[in-house]
Amino acid sequence: MTQARVVEVTEFGAPEVMKVVTKDLPPPAAGEAQIRQTAIGFNYLDISQRGGAMPLPLPTGIGHEAAGVVEAVGEGVTDVRVGDRVAYMNAGIGAYADVRNVAAGKLVVLPASVSDEAAATLIFKGMTAQYLVKKTHPVQPGDIVLVHSAAGGVGQILSSWAKALGATVVGTASTPEKCAIARKAGCDFAIDYSKPGWVEEFLQVTGGRKARVVYDAVGKDTFYQSLDCTAPFGLVVLYGAASGPVKDFEPELLNKKGCLFLTRPSVFPHNADPATFRANAADLFDAIATGKVKVDIGQRFKLEDIVKVHQQVKGRATTGAVLITP
Ligand SMILES: NC(=O)c1ccc[n+]([C@@H]2O[C@H](COP(=O)([O-])OP(=O)(O)OC[C@H]3O[C@@H](n4cnc5c(N)ncnc54)[C@H](OP(=O)(O)O)[C@@H]3O)[C@@H](O)[C@H]2O)c1
Repeated sequence: MTQARVVEVTEFGAPEVMKVVTKDLPPPAAGEAQIRQTAIGFNYLDISQRGGAMPLPLPTGIGHEAAGVVEAVGEGVTDVRVGDRVAYMNAGIGAYADVRNVAAGKLVVLPASVSDEAAATLIFKGMTAQYLVKKTHPVQPGDIVLVHSAAGGVGQILSSWAKALGATVVGTASTPEKCAIARKAGCDFAIDYSKPGWVEEFLQVTGGRKARVVYDAVGKDTFYQSLDCTAPFGLVVLYGAASGPVKDFEPELLNKKGCLFLTRPSVFPHNADPATFRANAADLFDAIATGKVKVDIGQRFKLEDIVKVHQQVKGRATTGAVLITP
């Protein structure tokens, strides 16, 4: 029996409810692979699940993405082998661990061009950006694209990828320092949306043109202004709620603001089966290899310091991706 160090939550609440505990890990069952994890990614969703905004059956692990090496495989596993470097983003909750068993069909083998650290910080956030710029709205040259929280993990990847596809990208962020990071990530313009009048500033930098698509993962604090920034027949993509959920929305408003389209998508259905997941991952790895998407590890933590990770992100003190090492 292998010993695994895992982060466990037995009640929802503040970051301190996360405890690192040692548990027996059985050998991988049929269809599973055992992964010795070398790098773990943080995602904002982890905060929502730890805090109970998106409740899970308790007790529960936390975390969705990691990379590592296959140490053992269960019966019938043919798509990965012992020694393969692999990553995952949708293999069941519990990525905050040093070793774990996951369904082999949820793993992608990493090419030599993608390090474990890059994979662990990019596979969930990068696959999110991938479906947002390729499927939810296939970004075209000449599009005006507005990306909220553009200095964040998904925000930076989304901005650089949309720029590489030929769009004019306007990013928002909450401080001048974060605006500078958003520009470095590929935004043509970056606006401090903590200040009043940012919608007017957006229209000023675009010469009065509104956005073909707005990517909004902030939610409550930005959603109604996002409608004001969207061109007639344009698309508002509400893909998160960092400031809280949008409530009591009246669909008639979409008509009044210019026959807008609204969607609330998720990365998981876009990567539900192994073939689609691996094809999308290949697209992401190509974007990394060709420099369309860059790895920005803004801060690093040990697994033991997991409480600090959640405190700092919730305090809006992080930029880019957070990397956790076991
Ligand atoms: N639907 C999907 O498929 C999907 C998949 C992955 C992630 N997401 C969503 O994408 C967003 C970004 O995820 P991430 O992991 O890359 O996180 P992140 O962007 O690194 O961190 C969240 C950012 O949201 C901004 N923010 C605005 N209001 C906030 C508030 N009241 N409290 C905390 N932060 C606030 C902050 O940037 P500023 O300080 O610049 O405002 C903060 O840095 C999250 O909302 C997440 O749920 C959705």
